[in-house]
Amino acid sequence: EKGRPIYTREEVAKHKTPKDRVWVTYKEGVYDITEFIEMHPGGAAKIMLAAGGSVEPFWGLYQQHKKPEVFAILEPYRIGTLEGGAAAAAAASAALKDPYAGDPARHPVLIPRTQKPFNGETPGSLLAASPVTPTDVFFVRNHLPVPAVDTEHYRLQVTGEGARSLELSLSELQSRFRKHHVTATIQCSGNRRNEMSQVKPVKGLEWDQGAIGTAVWGGVRLRDVLKAAGLSEDDPAVRHIHFEGLDKDPATGDVYGASIPLSRALSPECDVLLAYEMNGAPLNVDHGAPLRVVVPGVTGARSVKWLGRIVASPSESSSHWQQRDYKAFCPSVDWDSVDWGSAPAIQEPPVTSAICEPAPGTVLSAADGEVTLRGYAWSGGGRGIVRVDVSSDGGKTWSAARLLPPPPGAPAQGSYTGAWAWTLWEATLPLPAAGSDSSVTLVVKAVDSSYNNQPDSVAGIWNLRGVVNNAWHRVTLPLEQ
Ligand code: HEM
Ligand code: MTE
Repeated sequence: EKGRPIYTREEVAKHKTPKDRVWVTYKEGVYDITEFIEMHPGGAAKIMLAAGGSVEPFWGLYQQHKKPEVFAILEPYRIGTLEGGAAAAAAASAALKDPYAGDPARHPVLIPRTQKPFNGETPGSLLAASPVTPTDVFFVRNHLPVPAVDTEHYRLQVTGEGARSLELSLSELQSRFRKHHVTATIQCSGNRRNEMSQVKPVKGLEWDQGAIGTAVWGGVRLRDVLKAAGLSEDDPAVRHIHFEGLDKDPATGDVYGASIPLSRALSPECDVLLAYEMNGAPLNVDHGAPLRVVVPGVTGARSVKWLGRIVASPSESSSHWQQRDYKAFCPSVDWDSVDWGSAPAIQEPPVTSAICEPAPGTVLSAADGEVTLRGYAWSGGGRGIVRVDVSSDGGKTWSAARLLPPPPGAPAQGSYTGAWAWTLWEATLPLPAAGSDSSVTLVVKAVDSSYNNQPDSVAGIWNLRGVVNNAWHRVTLPLEQ
């Protein structure tokens, strides 16, 4: 570009600290981002990884940068042009290996929310179609590239405070411990986040109601493995069990991690599983092969996939995803005022429900006189669903939906404990008389075995990260006369 100073890569590389000013390149542009570092939504430490070099490999990892708003933030910091221009920059960038190149193929029916890392949700019609979600269409929530794990050489490590360290191959795990099956729903904390962003922007994947699914998981009890490592409830030095994934952030080397309280990990009633099977087949790559944790009744983030290490500890996991992510705050808290230490990590999520059919965009016909709704309801902590209420007039009048039989292996609806799986439901409701309205708002809300209800609107539970949205689920559809 005319009039801008030209800099070589070597010159840019000298600007790596605030003292020398922090420069980065993007395509052929050279930018002095010193003043932006403290304002970076992804944190100062992350942006500093690009200091003195190109941001492109990092933006390849964190693709939320690939949008005009981010380019608009960067442009005012432009100070010059890279020697050799766009062609040299492109060649340097292409030489970097794509860390997602080893990711598996995905079923085309999954609705992708991001490709790298892959995040895809199940269409509503498929959720409502079967009490157990087929593995190929089960939602995928990945934060990092899928790790290459060779089952043959895989070893699970168990270690930490009060534990006799163990190293177990998959076949040792299978032969030493009894096999258990648990039918459990996994739901992401961000499920239905898209309704929150309609109130006010939130940060996160724009999930509709499909970041949820139910499977029959097969594996060994975490409790049995912890007992074999000598852990007991009576050890006051151990309060939490950490799970570390084998998936690594290529920029920082951090692995995915989370933790649950020891009491849940050891409880015979909580059914926490180290699963090597999903729906009767060996776990597939996207869902955590060869071994993952399944923490029934707890938010999906704690069910760590590609499990590498279990660590007993006096404190919670220090991982980003335990400390500075899956937490909810008062609606007035924003990214400048958030104090992550002030809220506990989400474990048991609140009661929720969603309409899966009819799908958004369906045109209803007044001549039909009625509409059939299908969907799911679920609550955390093993609380069963006792009732699902539906409305076809925006919530003015209600009827009870018919609860469908539980999936194989799950207890009856309304159980006080151990109801790890969702309840599917159906209802047929009247449509307004011909000639009245031009649209219809269908609504669902559920009640769990603790008589918890769902809040009627999203606004009051809005939070900056867009998690645990369990407001009444509404679908507004045009009504043809
Ligand atoms: C998020 C700007 C460099 C890692 C963001 C967001 C903006 C931004 C505007 C919020 C996007 C959204 O959520 O919609 C920039 C600019 C950069 C830069 C202008 C360069 C000058 C980097 C680098 C890294 C990085 C080099 C990593 C090594 C992240 C992460 C988030 C983020 C992890 C997500 C935070 C979250 O959602 O919790 N960045 N960024 N950024 N950035 Fe950057
Ligand atoms: N485990 C690892 N190692 N890496 C991850 O990115 N994502 C978590 C959890 N376990 C994740 C993980 C989140 S947020 C959810 S909701 C579930 O996995 C999703 O499980 P699924 O992809 O099998 O549906």
